[in-house]
Amino acid sequence: MQLPEHGANPRHVYEKFGMEAPAEINDFSENCNPAGPPRAVFELWPKLISRLNAYPDPSGEPFLSGAANYHGIPVSSVIAGNGAAELFSLIAERYRGKQAIVVHPTFSEYEATLQAKGVEITRIVASEEDGFKLPVETILNSLSSASVVYLCTPNNPTGILPERADLLSIIHKAGEIGCEVVLDEAFIDFIDESKSFIAQVKDFPHVIIVRSMTKMYAIPGIRLGYAVAHPDVIAKLKSQLPHWNVNGMAAAIGAVCLDQEAYRIAAIGHANEERKKMTEFLKHHGCTVTDSETNFLSFKPPNARKLYTDMLKQGIVLRHSENFRGMDGHYLRIGMKSSEEMEKLRGKLTEWFENERFLE
Ligand SMILES: Cc1ncc(COP(=O)(O)O)c(C=O)c1O
Repeated sequence: MQLPEHGANPRHVYEKFGMEAPAEINDFSENCNPAGPPRAVFELWPKLISRLNAYPDPSGEPFLSGAANYHGIPVSSVIAGNGAAELFSLIAERYRGKQAIVVHPTFSEYEATLQAKGVEITRIVASEEDGFKLPVETILNSLSSASVVYLCTPNNPTGILPERADLLSIIHKAGEIGCEVVLDEAFIDFIDESKSFIAQVKDFPHVIIVRSMTKMYAIPGIRLGYAVAHPDVIAKLKSQLPHWNVNGMAAAIGAVCLDQEAYRIAAIGHANEERKKMTEFLKHHGCTVTDSETNFLSFKPPNARKLYTDMLKQGIVLRHSENFRGMDGHYLRIGMKSSEEMEKLRGKLTEWFENERFLE
């Protein structure tokens, strides 16, 4: 049976299995900040009603300037999108009918948006034996055939952050041969802004960086993201966007979110603490765990499909890896939730591991 492609839709998973969803579901398959949206968003909310009868700013202000200020870059280097998802679709248009390199296992939307534009995909699969580390040499050797390479930093579903030196060697070689590089930094907020490539993008006109507001600020429903690139690239992308692509409420919420320094620091601390605890727990039970630096991790239990379905029955939704090439269903991904939820998950997993051992 083919499982739903994305996390974050637990009811669809139960439907697919023909199971009745339990009244209480703990969803570890999605990776948003468990703290929920910043308090400032709730304070702003009642005021947003007055914006309903006005068209939004066509460039996504005040969010656009907020993002530029946040990174200390010119507004001309930024484009706002209806989620990173819209920007991926827009960016894929640049490569219509050409060739792209996608490094797996990774986020499925790169291929989905590229294939919709007739792009031919060269797939490179990071090796499990090598801990899914970025296969730099293979990428360097393949660049000459491609118009673009997509890299997810940190990568979804492994959580691995590529080494800066590795990224730079790919970016330099790509620049020399006229290949563009798309970096997806949707989860970099949970690591450290200093790890972002945005500060360097001015030196590399062939690099496009995509950011999402969804994950850190827990606002998947509002749809907001942005991309950073050379002003000429941004101008071209803007010319292809539908007018008013970012709604006025989203633009106001996004600007407020970017001011929330203390909220971000707390989220990074929580993600680190819970990821380390969960990693240790899973390794103690004999699982291989990806070397994640962000707010999710993937692990390989003895029988992933069984663990996945056994947990579903108990209202625990993990993310399967059946559509992640290179993991092929053998891994499960866990998003870091509240400490209480993580404790509950460890309790359920302990019971499962003990029961499996008993059945051996
Ligand atoms: C790696 C990665 N990039 C981008 C996105 C899309 O983000 P958005 O909600 O801003 O469209 C996701 C969503 O799951 C993701 O996992």
